[in-house]
Amino acid sequence: MASSSLAWSSSALFCSKAQLNATRAFSSRQRASNFVVSMVSPVLQTVLVTGAGGRTGRIVYTELKERADQFTAKGLVRSEESKANIGGADDVYIGDITKPESLSLAFTNVDALVIVTSAVPKMKPGFDPSKGGRPEFYFEDGGFPEQVDWLGQKNQIDAAKAVGAKHVVLVGSMGGTNINNPLNALGNGNILVWKRKAEQYLADSGIPYTIIRAGGLQDSEGGVREFLIGKDDELLTTNTRTISRADVAEVCVQALLIEEAKNKAFDLSSKPQGGGVPTTDFKQLFCGISSTF
Ligand SMILES: NC(=O)c1ccc[n+]([C@@H]2O[C@H](COP(=O)([O-])OP(=O)(O)OC[C@H]3O[C@@H](n4cnc5c(N)ncnc54)[C@H](OP(=O)(O)O)[C@@H]3O)[C@@H](O)[C@H]2O)c1
Repeated sequence: MASSSLAWSSSALFCSKAQLNATRAFSSRQRASNFVVSMVSPVLQTVLVTGAGGRTGRIVYTELKERADQFTAKGLVRSEESKANIGGADDVYIGDITKPESLSLAFTNVDALVIVTSAVPKMKPGFDPSKGGRPEFYFEDGGFPEQVDWLGQKNQIDAAKAVGAKHVVLVGSMGGTNINNPLNALGNGNILVWKRKAEQYLADSGIPYTIIRAGGLQDSEGGVREFLIGKDDELLTTNTRTISRADVAEVCVQALLIEEAKNKAFDLSSKPQGGGVPTTDFKQLFCGISSTF
């Protein structure tokens, strides 16, 4: 159940007792308050979004651009084609996270980093659903999870540290506590194992971090569902295991603004649309999280 997967602690950083009590009440009633408390940073942050041409990354990048009073947005993509797909602005840099030497321009003057890169499995050609069976997947040369989700993420964390970035938000995936999760078998990539290793590297890096382990991603409307926070893949045992990419992107942006999101790692999914009160109070949401990994 979602309520049991919410972990509370009186030591939750930066949350006042009143806020914690309010958050506990939020948990027990399983509804979000309509009143929004937002600790907006007064300083304009320069934020680099990597994977900015991806399906979630482009939403984060676009939202940061729209909030020009709070952020100076930069994007990192892999190709001219991806750059053109997200508008082709001068703040979009081309680089490959597996090649650290290609990242320096993008990381210049960065205050915060949002990592939304990932290895992407490809379906082997020739699969015919009418014949039954399951499709097979592979990773392209240079695009294996060990290279992208581990070494590529590590390169980014190192680059962020080198420029003195003050916050790294990493979008990861639920499922990493179980080596037998079927996603690990895709293309023999062990993708969740390598993602988890990068998450650990970030948590140990000394840079304030927020690790968002998303459930199954959907290309559905954002802002219309109640979020569920979990840890250790407990949410995978429920029937509320998905979240819209737009909602994940919003949590990334809010994490950049709200101090209480720092040094926390959590699973994220949502109730079905209409099955709860849409989450609007992000400070309360982050205050209710005590898990640091
Ligand atoms: N799919 C799900 O249901 C699910 C569930 C939970 C969590 N997640 C995770 O959530 C995150 C966002 O997922 P998504 O589906 O929105 O992402 P996505 O569309 O697959 O985007 C991934 C991005 O990573 C970029 N990338 C890959 N290798 C790179 C490299 N070497 N250098 C630079 N960029 C590179 C890709 O660039 P190109 O555009 O050039 O390929 C792409 O833009 C990922 O970490 C994903 O694993 C996914």
